[in-house]
Amino acid sequence: MAKNRIRKAVIPAAGLGTRFLPATKAMPKEMLPIVDKPTIQYIVEEAVEAGIEDIIIVTGKGKRAIEDHFDRASELEELLSSKNKVEQLHQIQEISKLAHIHYIRQPRPLGLGHAIWCANRFVGDESFVVLLGDDIVRGGASSLREMIQFAEESNSSVIGVKEVLPKDVSRYGIVDCEPSTTNVCQIRDLVEKPHPDEAPSNLAIIGRYVLAPEIFGFLEKGRVGVGGEIQLTDALVELNRIHAMYAYTYGGDRYDVGEKLGFIQATLEFALDRPELRSAVIDLMEAIAERAKVNS
Ligand code: UTP
Repeated sequence: MAKNRIRKAVIPAAGLGTRFLPATKAMPKEMLPIVDKPTIQYIVEEAVEAGIEDIIIVTGKGKRAIEDHFDRASELEELLSSKNKVEQLHQIQEISKLAHIHYIRQPRPLGLGHAIWCANRFVGDESFVVLLGDDIVRGGASSLREMIQFAEESNSSVIGVKEVLPKDVSRYGIVDCEPSTTNVCQIRDLVEKPHPDEAPSNLAIIGRYVLAPEIFGFLEKGRVGVGGEIQLTDALVELNRIHAMYAYTYGGDRYDVGEKLGFIQATLEFALDRPELRSAVIDLMEAIAERAKVNS
């Protein structure tokens, strides 16, 4: 495994977003706004804050809006400038300067594992970060930075996890870990969506990984035929057999924005973080809850 500093990230964003139809019929789910910022911008910002310099976004059919979002918007800039809307102009310009962002197309949505595999030429022989395009972690940058640091120091792969309620383990990939007193533990195995009675722990895999480039060999091997899905978890199980893999318990709050309830929760929590919206949002939530109680 390469010992270089980890500086590249892959953001797979080529999925169909079927859990969010019809909104995602023509619009990428990664562009769904949380308050006033697209989901994927939060993710890019998290990567940049954690020290990532180059990002490759894996896109697909109908995902042009993602590229446009991180590109310059000269007409809009001219308009804002002519109207002296300095703050908005600055905000728009900053988006295109966030990082070196590159794009690659996944020809067909053959699964998360395949999307990551599509980035293999960009990544080359280096360890790299993966951030899922629909998973937002509020306050997650410091965890990602620590995870990267740990991977660099231990020359290992690291998977971000979070504790979930025992009844919810069947919704996630779950890690089987050596006992540990810290927030890092060595992974013995990974199990996809176990029954609560059979789950080896309640540490669920979230959409943050630091992976050794050897993962590409396993993703390549696991390639299945037309219409099949290539699972990342299967490749992780194989990677774990040849070199050390750790689970890192992430701080912050995680939201699966590609799922309706996760999206609604993220919208409310991020709105509460905004001083100009906070009290109005609390009043609104109270009024709505009151009305819902009366009507039920
Ligand atoms: P998901 O499984 O959450 O995305 O993948 P999905 O398939 O779009 O969602 P549903 O289940 O149909 O609603 C996690 C991330 O991996 C990307 C997605 O865009 C998302 O950001 N992905 C998934 C790809 O890039 N390519 C794929 O073939 C599948």
